[in-house]
Amino acid sequence: MGIQLKTPAEIDKMRLAGRLAGEVLDYIDAFVKPGVTTAELDRLCHDYMVDVQGCIPAPLNYAPPGYPPYPKSICTSINQQVCHGVPSERALKKGDIVNLDITTIKDGYHGDSSRMYQVGDCSILAKRLCAVSFECMWLGIARVRPGGHLGDVGEAIQRHAEKNGFSVVREFCGHGIGLKFHDEPQVLHYGKAGTGVELLAGMTFTIEPMINAGKAAISEMQDGWTIVTKDHSLSAQWEHTVLVTDSGYEVLTLSAASPPRPASVR
Ligand code: MF3
Ligand code: CO
Ligand code: CO
Repeated sequence: MGIQLKTPAEIDKMRLAGRLAGEVLDYIDAFVKPGVTTAELDRLCHDYMVDVQGCIPAPLNYAPPGYPPYPKSICTSINQQVCHGVPSERALKKGDIVNLDITTIKDGYHGDSSRMYQVGDCSILAKRLCAVSFECMWLGIARVRPGGHLGDVGEAIQRHAEKNGFSVVREFCGHGIGLKFHDEPQVLHYGKAGTGVELLAGMTFTIEPMINAGKAAISEMQDGWTIVTKDHSLSAQWEHTVLVTDSGYEVLTLSAASPPRPASVR
């Protein structure tokens, strides 16, 4: 039991699944425009994963305990939606921010990544929230090293979010990933350095902070999936899948058009 360490052969499969998830996010970028529906984005991503990449979209029919089967192939979380937004006939409009979350399965292994997309020109607050949440993700990633602790990751994320006047969602976290979509450990996006699970080379998990412009509290919608901010403030999220290496970390979900690590994070 406990957290399984990936073998070199497994890591190669994780690299492939991860890159493919990133490439879906690259592909869909050109389609995120005012007027497109999230169902259309779902269909485009589904077809790309299945027909072009030979992947299985992990969300489709995914049914963890206590949840109805997820009805679509990607998650599309708009504005005050925090995560798990279900694609629908809702059209995106200028000024919206939307998180697109892609999880591929290739040769049994999962790759999980999400990005924020800005629809036309967005408010200064929306742009700042997207930028700060991106920095939060990378500040967390940069703390990953063998001998470190998951609390190092959480503290770095929480400190940067709160320094900027934003809050960290508590109810959802990153997760171990591999043959299973959501595996041990839970990767909290808040905490105290030096606490929590000790990191070992060969662990793979996601870092996917959900950052709210207002208070941290969330509510669940009637569909059983979509999570929104309780105070209706904007929320943003970015996600990468990472591997703990002998010297630090490797981001498994990078692709040609991934936004680069911010220069402020080292
Ligand atoms: N991709 C999400 C994550 O990062 C999980 C989505 S579960 C789904 O963990 F069923 F909603 F797709
Ligand atoms: Co995830
Ligand atoms: Co995800």
